[in-house]
Amino acid sequence: MNTRAIGIFDSGLGGLTILKTLSKALPKENLIYFGDTVNTPYGSKSKAAITRFSLDIARFLEQQGVKLIVVACNTASALALAELQKKISVPVIGVIEPGALAAARSTQNGRVAVLATEATVHSKAYPLALQRLDKRIRAFQRACPMFVPLIEEGWTHKSAGPLIVQDYLAPVARSGADTVILGCTHYPVIKRLIAQTLGKKIHLVDSADVVAEEVKTRLTRTDRLNPRGRGSLKIYASDDPVRFKRLAKHILGRELPRVYLKKLNP
Ligand code: DGL
Repeated sequence: MNTRAIGIFDSGLGGLTILKTLSKALPKENLIYFGDTVNTPYGSKSKAAITRFSLDIARFLEQQGVKLIVVACNTASALALAELQKKISVPVIGVIEPGALAAARSTQNGRVAVLATEATVHSKAYPLALQRLDKRIRAFQRACPMFVPLIEEGWTHKSAGPLIVQDYLAPVARSGADTVILGCTHYPVIKRLIAQTLGKKIHLVDSADVVAEEVKTRLTRTDRLNPRGRGSLKIYASDDPVRFKRLAKHILGRELPRVYLKKLNP
């Protein structure tokens, strides 16, 4: 069991921001990543569709013999986590609770803004999770549907980037929040741009560190840490693996091994 891989998935590239932190925190663990590029973006899809995509991927990862699955996607965590935990035989960890926990630890004035996809915002998963942690916290949500295409298209360095970010963030800056949750795993890719726009006083939270902490705790508690692995990485994409590999290099800051094409329901 211990040498089995950890499965990680997202609608595309965003989950790599979680993978990067996870592989630093647990360098001996073997990782299998699935980017569902044929179905991206999830953020504008229905709960039924997001649940179906997520279940297909989790079952595929289960077949690969993973010992644990990280849903490295806020949208899938918000809408499909409960279903995955019911139907999948290995532990499944989402990113919402860890992100909410990090924000609750960080806020001084009890006002937390959440940047997320439309589907995550509509699910109210973050406001509910924050309320469970601390009843005094007031959440302000802002859907940023253009951020994911901007990142998936590799457009973050074009001049449209700052304009789009400013437009979405203007009401967030006025909300009085001292803490902003990057409630989509794609958003840490434009963290610097978001930080420049919101200014130094606002603390940005992404769930990667807390998720890595949680994975480590779970594996330690169940005695499933890999004691002597070399930390292998296998990546699948459901569409255009060459493009995925090219864009992923910018997020991980290193050349990737081969990216395999895997169509789940052709
Ligand atoms: N990275 C994902 C998230 O955390 C999905 C974004 C999308 O596909 O719309 O929500």
